[in-house]
Amino acid sequence: MLMTDIYEIYGNIRSIVLCRREYLDDFLSKNTPGKRFRNCQGTEELGLQGKGLSLNNDYKSWTFNHHFFNQAILSPKFTNEAIDQTNKLFNELEIYWSKLFLKEEIIKENKNKLDFSEWFCHYTNDIIFKLLTGKRSYSMAAYFDTLSDEKTEYEPERVKASVKLTQALRKLLMEYTLFFVIPPFIRHYVPCFKNKADEVLKSMEFINQRLDAIIKSRREEIKKTPLDEPLPHDMLTSMIIKNTLRDDNYIHTGVTMSEAMRSMSDTEIRVNILDGIHTGTYKTANMLSLIVYYIAHNPDVKRKMLKEIDSIFQGDKMRPITKDDFYNLGYCEAIVKEVARIHPVVHLLSRCFDKPSKIAKYHWPADTVFLVNLKAIHNNDDDWEEPNKFNPDRWMDENFEPKKNSFLMFGGGLRLCPGRKLATIGLVCLMALLFRKYEIDLADMNTPIKTTSGRVMILSVDLLVEIRLRN
Ligand code: HEM
Repeated sequence: MLMTDIYEIYGNIRSIVLCRREYLDDFLSKNTPGKRFRNCQGTEELGLQGKGLSLNNDYKSWTFNHHFFNQAILSPKFTNEAIDQTNKLFNELEIYWSKLFLKEEIIKENKNKLDFSEWFCHYTNDIIFKLLTGKRSYSMAAYFDTLSDEKTEYEPERVKASVKLTQALRKLLMEYTLFFVIPPFIRHYVPCFKNKADEVLKSMEFINQRLDAIIKSRREEIKKTPLDEPLPHDMLTSMIIKNTLRDDNYIHTGVTMSEAMRSMSDTEIRVNILDGIHTGTYKTANMLSLIVYYIAHNPDVKRKMLKEIDSIFQGDKMRPITKDDFYNLGYCEAIVKEVARIHPVVHLLSRCFDKPSKIAKYHWPADTVFLVNLKAIHNNDDDWEEPNKFNPDRWMDENFEPKKNSFLMFGGGLRLCPGRKLATIGLVCLMALLFRKYEIDLADMNTPIKTTSGRVMILSVDLLVEIRLRN
């Protein structure tokens, strides 16, 4: 065993970092109901204790939520909705870009440069919010308004309200770890930490109010919709109707309902929606930026990708993308996987077990925190041929299957990412829509990709690109 296969780090708590797939068998098994964090007062203060998925340490409640979340997000109707919304929001994005960056005089003056990481954050904000709540958000529109003298047609009040919510969500995402890493006494009594913690709690309260209002109004809309009329396929609607008369799979036995057969409360729905927004938005946006960066630096890959895209669209730069197109974009999907292998946006998985465990041949006491170093696992030359080479073709071989636990883009075991299908569809479709129509070059090929690193996730920032219409 090498020192770099397993090591420990100390912050406010000791964490054991695992860097080999062989150590993960029990850890990521489908039978191990691991928690992601130690139980702590912070989740209680945030109102998240035993709720939702990502921070839920109560196995029974997690199982209940997991079932609802998966049923909503993995249904074929939701997939169709995801593709439909991709087309609609991409069209909106194109309108903004054509006004801001594609006019002849702008190109002549060399002003056709835009920050992709920023645009993708706004795009994913809008699409994830729509798919999860059924409601529009106006993140792209608001960003356009800041860059242009001409304003969007949307009511300014709506745009403002949407921006306020997005900002609160971002604040929560960036600073909620304070509630896990800073001890309660410091959070409550040391002024600088207390101010920060209070701001996060204020954001949380605001988000809760807004999401509760959306849930309430959707319940009313559903009540008013006759039983024989179809409902939309967003996650909120699916969660509200599950295990009710509106649910196609509902069987009323007349016997007292088991826990699994009950419907969800507003608070349960709210935390699940918040979980989806939090865990989904920035990872997808960051992946998009990384994909654009790697494609720009690998001209052979770009050529092959364009060949695939062009063979499917046959020069048609306008028609909407379809589910069949997605299934035919195998090379684009290989690029997504290869970017995720070489540069994982989630760089650490975390787990912690209630009982003592044996991992990597050592015995560990209950409540030890383990972290899996994804970059190390994805770059191990025992598991990957030429691991440092960016080579999407490795995924194109029909017989290729990564070794067990050697590729963890979406994590593994019971806590595997439930948004994996949505994320893959979203990324592949957007790549096709972008590259079939636009020539996309990095503004500076010599600048390495800029990222900032959170506890478990990296954020791509300032990815300046130049766009033109493709001939
Ligand atoms: C490229 C985009 C994405 C990546 C790379 C990604 C990756 C991950 C990873 C690595 C985990 C941790 C898994 C583990 O601990 O084993 C996770 C968890 C999770 N992801 Fe994703 N994800 C993405 C998009 C999404 C989307 C779009 C959604 C939903 C809208 C989503 C919802 C979640 C949820 C709810 C969890 C917590 C699951 C649980 O604890 O049971 N993710 N994701």
